[in-house]
Amino acid sequence: MAKDTITIVDNRTGRSYELPIFYGTYRTYGAAIKGADLRQIKVSEEDFGLMSYDPAFMNTASCKSAITFIDGERGILRYRGYPIEELAEKGNYLETAYLVLYGKLPVKSELERWVHDITFHTIVHENIKKFMDGFHHDAHAMGLFVSTVAALSTFYPDASNIFDPESRKIQTHRLIGKMPTLAAFAYRHSQGLPYAYPDNDLSYTGNFLNMLFKMAELRYKPNPILERALDILFILHADHEQNCSANAMRAVGSSHVDPYCAVAAASGALYGPLHGGANEQVLRMLKEIGSKEKVPEFVKTVKGGEGRLIGFGHRVYKNYDPRAKIIKKVANQVFEVTGRNPLLDIALELERIALVDDYFIKRKLYPNVDFYSGIIYQAMGFPVEMFPVLFAIPRTSGWVAQWEEMLLDQEQKISRPRQVYTGSDVREYVQMELRS
Ligand code: CMC
Repeated sequence: MAKDTITIVDNRTGRSYELPIFYGTYRTYGAAIKGADLRQIKVSEEDFGLMSYDPAFMNTASCKSAITFIDGERGILRYRGYPIEELAEKGNYLETAYLVLYGKLPVKSELERWVHDITFHTIVHENIKKFMDGFHHDAHAMGLFVSTVAALSTFYPDASNIFDPESRKIQTHRLIGKMPTLAAFAYRHSQGLPYAYPDNDLSYTGNFLNMLFKMAELRYKPNPILERALDILFILHADHEQNCSANAMRAVGSSHVDPYCAVAAASGALYGPLHGGANEQVLRMLKEIGSKEKVPEFVKTVKGGEGRLIGFGHRVYKNYDPRAKIIKKVANQVFEVTGRNPLLDIALELERIALVDDYFIKRKLYPNVDFYSGIIYQAMGFPVEMFPVLFAIPRTSGWVAQWEEMLLDQEQKISRPRQVYTGSDVREYVQMELRS
């Protein structure tokens, strides 16, 4: 029988090394060698040993994980083994968050308890409002969000007990419970509106809509189609394995800081236009293009190297992002309530042209999750600055799941990559008057 090893011959010394190969769930998707095993490959005793050089983790597994599976070639996404399509069709966000965090679908009593615990933690300390008030009226909502999540750390000093399972549980409830409240407060602040308090009789997304859009009415009644559409979008955004922000969550959390500071770091990573900030940039791009007729000209500029087609391409997906497919369907349901967003025609034309264009075909660039989500958010009445925040709320369950898995993994330590030093060799200090 073939051995699960690889033999490396070092041509510098003629020596050969046999390194073990290990696997995840699938033998054809997740075979790896340990980077540390390369260290034995040396030219001399003083030699530090061979490292692998992999900027941007193009082909490096930073962890073993049982949370999310993506097969980017085939456009597959599963949380804990459940296909995203089934969860989006049959599940709801809080049930999905439970699944992502605890690895199983909750039974009825577990779900009721979970929903109660999250709902119980939706209110934020009154001082958070004062903190929010300090921001300028036109401060970007994501800036407010990142800062206030970090500020939660000062309200819950018990959160530093990261190896106490009970403490982790409470912080998890607080984080998932309070995210919509912080996001809604950020929105109300930017609009100059009074903060609206949670209504715990509503669903997770229903209550979020309440805190965003409640005016003088006694009780806010969310539109059930929009409430469900937002819930589906939240399911689709719950986790996405080792993306930039999950990696930030794990790396920052590996220093054993409290989860609020780690989530603030992850939210900061998400804010960037190449990651969760892309949904905002897609809208700006569509507006800039202006009309369907101008799409071919725009695509030409992208191919000429002037900027990117935002909402297209993915490090992992080399096929249609399965989340984008679902979002496209949800868009139609939302537009039946809100009326069709005219930007949709520009987006559809962009997709049509890009999918048959050699430039995009050769590079396997397909629409990603952010391509259509912004069009729905805009139709629902969100300003573009809120789009990355709408990504961060549901992703919190994924971040916390990744953080906990990292903390409990005996093989994990403080995250600390190596480098290949390319600077000067040792130099002697030169006095100022002798410097040229
Ligand atoms: N438009 C035009 N060309 C592109 C695009 C794009 N959106 N994305 C990649 N390319 C080209 C890139 O120029 C390169 O071409 P060449 O080989 O000629 O130099 C090739 O495709 C490979 O690109 P890359 O930058 O090496 O790929 P990456 O894996 O490092 O980047 C990405 C992935 C998502 C950052 C990139 O595709 C991108 O910038 N997309 C636009 C931003 C976006 O939509 N981000 C949201 C991602 S999904 C939400 C999330 O989970 O974060």
